[in-house]
Amino acid sequence: MSTALLDLPVFDPALGFVEAPIDPTLDLFEEIQRLKKEKNAVVLAHYYQEADIQDVADYIGDSLGLARQAAATDADVIVFCGVHFMAETAKILNPTKKVLLPDLNAGCSLSDTCPPDDFAAFCAQHPDHTVVSYINCSAGVKALSDIIVTSSNAEHIVRQLPKDEKILFAPDRNLGRYIAQETDRPDMVVWQGVCIVHETFSERRLLALKAQHPGAPVLAHPECEEAVLRHADFIGSTTQILRAAQERPEREMIIATEEGILHQMRKASPEKTFIPAPPDNGCACNACPHMKLNTLEKLYLCMKYEQPELVMDEALRVQALAPIERMLAMSAGVK
Ligand code: 13P
Ligand code: SF4
Repeated sequence: MSTALLDLPVFDPALGFVEAPIDPTLDLFEEIQRLKKEKNAVVLAHYYQEADIQDVADYIGDSLGLARQAAATDADVIVFCGVHFMAETAKILNPTKKVLLPDLNAGCSLSDTCPPDDFAAFCAQHPDHTVVSYINCSAGVKALSDIIVTSSNAEHIVRQLPKDEKILFAPDRNLGRYIAQETDRPDMVVWQGVCIVHETFSERRLLALKAQHPGAPVLAHPECEEAVLRHADFIGSTTQILRAAQERPEREMIIATEEGILHQMRKASPEKTFIPAPPDNGCACNACPHMKLNTLEKLYLCMKYEQPELVMDEALRVQALAPIERMLAMSAGVK
């Protein structure tokens, strides 16, 4: 008899739930709230998650805010609605807690294109460099790093390093170039990784959009290419862009980051119009395919069955913890 006939889910560690019927009459919001209480679970979500997930989450934030929340929570179960490196960071900070990710295949192009072995060889070519890595990397890369940064605190942290300290930055070449410029460190060695969402914004189409909306400032994430950042009126992490969108007086703004953030912007400032910056791929959307692997249904199933769970090697976890703790200590006061 198949497990489906018994109404048991079929869980494949590589694919997730392949056969897991959900009663269509269930109110998934109510069920998720009930499961949170029953399991003493906290749901942490990134701004790039679909709107339903943001609405049911206990905390929504950028990578720094989510890492801080993960470090501070007293929940027994952390359900991380984001991508793999984010859930991994939560596990590194919380070895005794259960960390769940609705879809374990939710990766990240930055992390995926910086394999730890290649990165170790790259670091070996620059032995006298302090290794500063963007949090969008695997635990293996974190373990090879001296300090982890996010887009919120990268500039703040790099400014704390002595001016003559040699820095190797990975894996985002756009954030690396931006931080090198802002901190006046032209010799910074930068790994050449890119975010597949932010690299697709088109300068040509952005200029055309600006011509149609001459009063609209451009708010951009530093993962964007230089050609786009040069037209930005504000550059910051997702939390910083969100705050700027609320505080700025203009009624129309062009947003150059993943589209999920528009949900919080529209909730916070319903009277304003937020226009997504256009990508160069013929598509009208700026969605991260990795972030969007998580759905409300998968969130419900993962809370109900406590799978898929993020597990990691303890020796690797301990090595990856030190640079994250350094980041948290060096970014006190960063918002
Ligand atoms: P922040 O939310 O830290 O700005 O990061 C953006 C991002 O691309 C996360 O994957
Ligand atoms: Fe990675 Fe870019 Fe997706 Fe963020 S938006 S998870 S950096 S691929």
